[in-house]
Amino acid sequence: MTAAATTTPMAIVSFSLLLLLLFGTSSAQLSTNFYSSSCPNVFSTVKSAVQSAVASEKRMGASLVRLFYHDCFVNGCDGSVLLDDTANFTGEKNAAPNKNSARGFGVIDNIKSQVEKVCPGVVSCADILAITARDSTVALGGPSWAVKVGRRDARTASLSGANNNIPPPTFSLSSLISSFQAQGLSAKDMVTLSGAHTFGQAQCTNFRARIYNETNIEASFATTRRANCPSTQGSGDNNLAPLDLQTPTTFDNRYYANLVSLKGLLHSDQQLFSNGSTDSQVRSYASGASSFASNFAAAMIKLGDLSPLTGSSGEIRKVCSKIN
Ligand code: HEM
Ligand SMILES: *[C@@H]1O[C@H](CO)[C@@H](O)[C@H](O)[C@H]1NC(C)=O
Ligand SMILES: *[C@@H]1O[C@H](CO)[C@@H](O)[C@H](O)[C@H]1NC(C)=O
Ligand SMILES: *[C@@H]1O[C@H](CO)[C@@H](O)[C@H](O)[C@H]1NC(C)=O
Repeated sequence: MTAAATTTPMAIVSFSLLLLLLFGTSSAQLSTNFYSSSCPNVFSTVKSAVQSAVASEKRMGASLVRLFYHDCFVNGCDGSVLLDDTANFTGEKNAAPNKNSARGFGVIDNIKSQVEKVCPGVVSCADILAITARDSTVALGGPSWAVKVGRRDARTASLSGANNNIPPPTFSLSSLISSFQAQGLSAKDMVTLSGAHTFGQAQCTNFRARIYNETNIEASFATTRRANCPSTQGSGDNNLAPLDLQTPTTFDNRYYANLVSLKGLLHSDQQLFSNGSTDSQVRSYASGASSFASNFAAAMIKLGDLSPLTGSSGEIRKVCSKIN
């Protein structure tokens, strides 16, 4: 008699319930080996494409990490951010947080076409975003993590979801915490994931009010930033400044050290260290006492677990910007 034959249905139900309790339902069908037989080369294909994109423009690594975040905050990590507008829906690309700001769509489309060459119709765009975010972080000197895959792609996108769920840089600490809690992420996750501002750039229009009107800002830093961001609305709106003053193309904890010295670029950045409940976490990351890098990796996995489409939901898009 085999072991399986002695297993009662009740035991199977109890065991399944145990697994459900241990791992939750939202990401139950994601796994690191989802493509191990259907597309064994997906990870190496994405990795070399990301490395070459980041080699030709370092900022692209930051842009790709942000794209993943903006995907996951709107109906989960389902590739919805990548869809162009159609006759049937207005997509997320033109939502306020993305318009003239989100970048890297061409890189994703190019990676998808390379993956289609090795395994046609197998790998979702949502998974390509998740793998790309990890490889971008690594390419800029950050930690690595095992990316869970098995997501499927949405057949629709939500302009209002992008406008409502992705917090703007004008938000207070309590509003930032609420935005993340609405996605099932904690205040601690919010502070950790904001550490992605260790790389990348922001436009003047997003930090003008802070550098001209706020008082919890270091004076010489404000002066430096004002030099390339005129006070008049509409003037120099797109001029760029680094989110992390000293090392905008490398992953490190300087972003947090800058918050402690009142050199956060965005209002929302400085909110994390402004005599509030998250000051101690920022101080701890700034001093290197607790590991920002390993917490960041864990929080990115949590971000990637947000309501994926799995099983027979959604589809595997052929081209990331269009439904099949
Ligand atoms: C906590 C709330 C957050 C707010 C209010 C916020 C806001 C912003 C803003 C306003 C910009 C500049 C956009 C522009 O001027 O074009 C930006 C850039 C960026 N954000 Fe965030 N962000 C937040 C959280 C996150 C998270 C969780 C991640 C990723 C895990 C992230 C990754 C990035 C990156 C990498 C950039 C630079 C992109 C580039 O250079 O292309 N942000 N963010
Ligand atoms: C819009 O929806 C209709 C009905 O479902 C479908 O036939 C049509 O192909 C869709 N158009 C686009 C551009 O997706
Ligand atoms: C600063 O605040 C004043 C008073 O509220 C406002 O009139 C002005 O437009 C603000 N300046 C910037 C650059 O936001
Ligand atoms: C914290 O409060 C003190 C005392 O009111 C103030 O001087 C300081 O600027 C505040 N710090 C921040 C980051 O807002």
